[in-house]
Amino acid sequence: MLPNKRILLGVTGGIAAYKAAELVRRLQDQGAQVRVVMTRAATEFVTPLTFQALSTYPVHTDLLNTETETVMGHIELARWADLIVIAPASADFLARLATGRGDDLLTTLCLAAECKIAIAPAMNQAMWAKAATQANRQLLLDRGMVFFGPEEGLQACGETGAGRLLDVAAIVEHCAGLFTTGLLSGKHVVITAGPTREALDPVRYISNHSSGKQGYALAEAAVLAGATVTLISGPTNLPPPDRTNFVPVVSAQDMYDAVMQTLDIADIVIGVAAVADYRPATLSEQKIKKSDGHNSMVLELIENPDIIKAVANSKHHPFTVGFAAETTNLLEYATKKLKQKNLDMIVANDVANHAIGFDSDDNETAVIWVDHVEQLPRMSKSNTAGRIIEFIAQRLAQKSGCA
Ligand code: C5P
Repeated sequence: MLPNKRILLGVTGGIAAYKAAELVRRLQDQGAQVRVVMTRAATEFVTPLTFQALSTYPVHTDLLNTETETVMGHIELARWADLIVIAPASADFLARLATGRGDDLLTTLCLAAECKIAIAPAMNQAMWAKAATQANRQLLLDRGMVFFGPEEGLQACGETGAGRLLDVAAIVEHCAGLFTTGLLSGKHVVITAGPTREALDPVRYISNHSSGKQGYALAEAAVLAGATVTLISGPTNLPPPDRTNFVPVVSAQDMYDAVMQTLDIADIVIGVAAVADYRPATLSEQKIKKSDGHNSMVLELIENPDIIKAVANSKHHPFTVGFAAETTNLLEYATKKLKQKNLDMIVANDVANHAIGFDSDDNETAVIWVDHVEQLPRMSKSNTAGRIIEFIAQRLAQKSGCA
């Protein structure tokens, strides 16, 4: 339910802090990467070592700790997260968040973050019911934060009422719910991903550095959006995402054939694959031998079919999205491809920048369609995928509204 989602778990000072340890495990069970930030008060209840062992990452506690800042600075940490979950959130923390304080690491992260912030409060029932706490809750809701719980029941202090931390399984489900949109329910999305391999002989091939990460993240995002997803992938090191029809292929021709077979049922085709433009003109049945006395070799290449162009120009014409991986003149080249290939949308990214390139976990893209460009800042490939799916759903709705 949370494939590759980056969740920053903020733990504040309260007896329910021990339940946050279980929350780390349950979020991980759903595929999330979890990093933990604790307030000073939280460390009085549970040690950072517990969370470090569970999350396998250093636990951040101080704003001005040079050691953890060198591992990942606080702004980087805020940028890293797809979602911040504060569980348990104390009354004091809510008050500090509501007043916009940045007097410790966790409040500062919340100020710096651009992602959604979810709050699971836990406190004595009288503290929760207090007008000040309720006013803070309302203010935070008005600012777009979401609340998970609290629930009613017997409290650690012996009193009964609303203030218990919501059940850990329910918190996990609510987190997943934030990423589940239903935007593409009833739609069939076909995605190409990864590199292709163009064989020269039985042991050698021509390929590229594509990791498949962005294409797989799009497949996961399309699943969360309620679509039926076919992922046609060249060879990668990634496990096939859950709940997709996974079609492994090797060469551009294989990929072309597999995509063409889906055309009758596809509503949307997204070409993320780094398809080899050319393949060797001949495939040698035996291993090509090094020829003595020659210090160079000439390979003849012939053009592969352009898959996404063929899709966009087919009679069926599903909503077609291409990717443009460029090293220079990003917007210019991408816009040219959008038109030349007759695409509905193209996503441009600068593969010369290693922080956001082929094998990295982050991306920074521009989403382009004929009359508009939308810049997406650097974020996880998972979050980038979610945003692209939103744009596709919007454009698709506009298109069918016009029809
Ligand atoms: O022309 P270029 O290869 O830069 O275009 C990139 C876009 O076209 C990507 O969406 C890629 O998946 C798609 N493509 C394709 N078939 C090819 C070459 C590229 O579908 N043979």
